[in-house]
Order: sequence, then C-alpha cells, then structure tokens
Amino acid sequence: MAKMAIFFGSTSGITEEIATKIHEHFGEELCDLFSMEEDFTSVDEMLEYDHLLFGCSTWGSGEVQNDWRDPLFE
Ligand SMILES: Cc1cc2nc3c(=O)[nH]c(=O)nc-3n(C[C@H](O)[C@H](O)[C@H](O)COP(=O)(O)O)c2cc1C
Repeated sequence: MAKMAIFFGSTSGITEEIATKIHEHFGEELCDLFSMEEDFTSVDEMLEYDHLLFGCSTWGSGEVQNDWRDPLFE
C-alpha cells in the first residue's frame, strides 16, 4: 500500500490543526505526521514515502515558517 506523510511547521498552531485533521482523515496506517520542530531529522526521512504533503505558513514578507528554513536549504 502506498504510504504518505504530512510534514508541517506551525508557529501559532493553525497549520498544525489542519495537518492533524488531514492525518485523522487518512488514518495512522496510511499516513504519518511530522512536526518540523519536534519530529523532523533529515530530508532522507521524506524519501521513504510515496506521497508527501507539506504544511507551511507564511510570515513577514512572504517568508516560510521558521521550522522550514533550514530543511528548505537541505
Ligand atoms: C506577523 C505576521 C506576519 C504574517 N505574514 C504573512 C505573509 O507574509 N503572508 C501570508 O500569506 N500570511 C502571513 N501571515 C498570516 C499567517 O501565515 C497565518 O496566520 C497562518 O495561518 C499562521 O499559521 P501557523 O499558526 O500554522 O504558523 C502573517 C501573520 C502574522 C501574525
């Protein structure tokens, strides 16, 4: 079965809430949920999945949410 993951970064919790709802919809067997702040270790982790969903809010002048900054350069 194809496996998917949601990786999200969330400063005030809005993206986390949406990511959690999507995760609940697909269920734990089909979908893993990663907080970029608490769970993310390396981009290699992402390559284990067939499908990826990224959750990233926008801050400042259209900049990515803080927890995505370093991973984006990876
Ligand atoms: C100080 C501040 C700056 C923001 N800058 C942007 C922005 O540049 N572009 C945008 O689309 N939204 C911007 N937003 C809106 C946030 O991206 C939005 O509230 C988002 O849902 C926050 O998600 P999070 O709590 O998961 O991080 C800004 C919000 C705040 C409070």
